[in-house]
Amino acid sequence: MAVSNRLPIILKRKKDKWSIEPGSGGLVTALAPVLKNRGGLWIGWSGGTNDADLAGLMDLASRHAGYSLFPVPLTREEVQDYYYGFANEIIWPLFHDLQTRCNFIPGYWYQYLKINQRFAEVTAMRSRETDYIWVHDYHLMHLAHFLKEIDEHRQMGFFLHIPFPPLDIFMKLPWRTQILKALLKYDLVGFQTLRDRRHFLQCVQNLIEGVKVRGRGPVTTANLGGREIRVGAFPISIDFNAFARNAASDEVSDTAWYLHEALPDRQVILGVDRLDYTKGIPERLQAFKSALERFPELRGKITLVQVVVPSRERVEEYQMLKSEIERLVGEINGRFTSSGWVPIHYLYRSLSPYELLAYYRLAEIALVTPLKDGMNLVAKEYCACNLEENGVLILSEFAGAAAQLHRWAIMVNPYDIEGVSNAIHRAFHMNPGERKAKMRRLRRAIKRRDIFWWVNTFLKAALSRDLYSFPPIMEDYIPRTPLDVESGERDQPPES
Ligand code: UDP
Ligand code: G6P
Repeated sequence: MAVSNRLPIILKRKKDKWSIEPGSGGLVTALAPVLKNRGGLWIGWSGGTNDADLAGLMDLASRHAGYSLFPVPLTREEVQDYYYGFANEIIWPLFHDLQTRCNFIPGYWYQYLKINQRFAEVTAMRSRETDYIWVHDYHLMHLAHFLKEIDEHRQMGFFLHIPFPPLDIFMKLPWRTQILKALLKYDLVGFQTLRDRRHFLQCVQNLIEGVKVRGRGPVTTANLGGREIRVGAFPISIDFNAFARNAASDEVSDTAWYLHEALPDRQVILGVDRLDYTKGIPERLQAFKSALERFPELRGKITLVQVVVPSRERVEEYQMLKSEIERLVGEINGRFTSSGWVPIHYLYRSLSPYELLAYYRLAEIALVTPLKDGMNLVAKEYCACNLEENGVLILSEFAGAAAQLHRWAIMVNPYDIEGVSNAIHRAFHMNPGERKAKMRRLRRAIKRRDIFWWVNTFLKAALSRDLYSFPPIMEDYIPRTPLDVESGERDQPPES
């Protein structure tokens, strides 16, 4: 049984008509095939605030999804303070190392506790004692705390899809000990990378009295008050085979061909992101501009297709970010467009699944440059769909995916505008042999550890008796940028 803030669908009402739309974001992409494969129940919020009778719609959506969906109703005020407030104005920025964007408003905290209690009650009601309850993401860190008050014997795991911040940043959270203690109520706590797990354990050791951490393998244990809590790192992934199979379909192949025909004789660089300040979109646009300035041979020969998927539209920061992106796109296009060539194609909308795959398939370069990201599934999806193995992945050092993919991607510091523009230049000139060798290794690594491997590994860590025989899962990743060595000329000021 899975519990997350969001169900994989969003119910929307236009006038008196209801429609069911797919949700966006990595959590939904990753979990949906798992539930489809194993069956079960998914508890979460429907994305709306209404008192309508949703039962009929949920039945319809469940039949369509192939597993059961159960909604937790939220009022407008609750959505405001728990979801927009606590989750999106406190935990999201803080855990992405952006503490200056946080609004530590006490009312948000109380609403968060109240909603976690409600999720716990619904989960207790809908589950049997023998069910394993798997809770996802930062909105519901207190669910085990409340559920174990109802029944302390429930087996519960938690997976954090976003990064866990280092101690000195986490310390800023006014409710830091409560959150850590709540997480320690789960039986297994999982993170995306070893770095996230290390940060969590450092916080626990410094802030919680009497805790003892043991073991150094992929799954370690924390002992507190006679309880043993398992703590591991499990990099999330995608249904690789499904992405590759769908990318090979006639519909996707034809769409990819038509879209690229409209951009003849040039390489397409692709960016796909939810509208979010953690994704580094303005910095990426600056780097693209810098590449056009510093490498004139790229002009007319590359096009950046930047897809921005609307997200959290009611948060002011997100509205400001949209304006900033659109200003930059306008500025760059205004400056560089020439007859027959527009440097940036900007799409602000959700793509249909086959349109998204078509863009993945046709792009010669993917530019994945978040300032910080739990994993970043777009990087993995791009590689899975690159059936010709002719694409180049430019990847941020601060994406969780870096730990698994850094050897065969061009790694960049997303804050380093000239460094990213050098990477664009390098990717543009990379020869077909090197592209193939690198992309083949990337695809192999992602296929080997796909979403089904991730579920099995997490559940094995939850249920196995012998943790010492647990196989290594991943390596730790400390960023080193080879491009820094190559671009010694950046120590000189540019010629005016
Ligand atoms: N995505 C989507 N709709 C779109 C374009 C992309 O739902 O129009 C999906 C994309 O396929 C990917 C997810 O959104 O699975 C983004 O996940 P990622 O881990 O990259 O970032 P997140 O949005 O979770 O921060
Ligand atoms: C990230 C988070 C998810 C979240 C998604 C979309 O992937 O890890 O928990 O669902 O973003 O954000 P939203 O606020 O629209 O649910």
